[in-house]
Amino acid sequence: MSVSAASLPSVPPGPVRVLGIDTSCDDTGVGIVELLPDGRVNLLANRVWSQTVHARYGGVMPELASREHVERIDEVMGDALREAGLTVSDIDAVAATSGPGLVGALLVGLMYGKGLAQALNVPFHAAHHLEGHIFAAASEAELRAPFLALVVSGGHTHLFDVPRDGEYVLVGATMDDAAGEAFDKIARLAGLGYPGGPAISEAATRGNPDAVPFKEPLQGQKTFNFSFSGLKTAALLAHRAGAAPEDLAASFQQAAVKVLVKTTTRAAHAHGRGTVVVSGGVAANTALREAFRATDLNVVFPGRGLNTDNGAMIALAGAAAIRAGRPASPLDGGATAYAPLANA
Ligand code: KG4
Ligand code: ZN
Repeated sequence: MSVSAASLPSVPPGPVRVLGIDTSCDDTGVGIVELLPDGRVNLLANRVWSQTVHARYGGVMPELASREHVERIDEVMGDALREAGLTVSDIDAVAATSGPGLVGALLVGLMYGKGLAQALNVPFHAAHHLEGHIFAAASEAELRAPFLALVVSGGHTHLFDVPRDGEYVLVGATMDDAAGEAFDKIARLAGLGYPGGPAISEAATRGNPDAVPFKEPLQGQKTFNFSFSGLKTAALLAHRAGAAPEDLAASFQQAAVKVLVKTTTRAAHAHGRGTVVVSGGVAANTALREAFRATDLNVVFPGRGLNTDNGAMIALAGAAAIRAGRPASPLDGGATAYAPLANA
């Protein structure tokens, strides 16, 4: 049965409490935000269950991820409601990630969210995972276009220009590995553990960033793309030549940060954007944050706990959709593994 837009419930006037769900990969996330009539948003709760079952396989096992989402989602939602001091009947709208991600994993949160919205008779908003990552920064500053957005996570390295609210133009992307993936692979190579980002960042504090020379990827390019495979190969060669893990970590981090900041800054200047959102798991990196703060740009990062996958970022994206007057999503939409955000 298809649901017509006219039959969808609308949000009530006054503060709107939006519950957001993300189960796109191996984190079960539920967050709650409050959208005020003046357009500001308050973060009320952010609870994430990070699955550990995959550690022994060295990568995410999709079927295990889906099953664990099913087992945990009720508990995570209960924790989020308690953190917010609310009961489920206080929720005015529900948002859940519909893609991109692992389809089986996405379906758990998506179906849960739709069921919840239907039971409460409130609007449901299907959210894009990357729009969620971008709107994670709305916890720190009001996000209004135009701005540029760099999403750097374990699965994505995308640079979007956002000329108008809700409009995304892809201006650059990785040509091989995602930035977080490179952190993870080099950490594994150097025996620093998983996830690699925090491990590299910690080891780097004890290493010499100039010990291993890394050649800047795509030097001289006119586009705004990224490449991390050359850094990975250079790291492998340095490791085989006996580089200390700490030196490798410090040198790789310096090279990765430099190229991310340089290309993003160039893109911001080329597009005339003074504000840049930097989000996704790698945005938690202290060296990256410091390097971006040293630029002439107004750089906005997500608040604590909102860099890696979570439900609050989906609640924030849902709140932005409601604020922009976007219609609620029909309840018969599906989950999509591959879903480009850019509409140009
Ligand atoms: O956004 P996220 O939770 O998952 C995806 O949607 O992919 O990002 C996870 C990625 C991992 O690759 C992890 O190593 C990286 O973010 N990461 C970091 C840091 N914390 C997490 N990378 C660099 N520095 C960090 N402090
Ligand atoms: Zn993510």
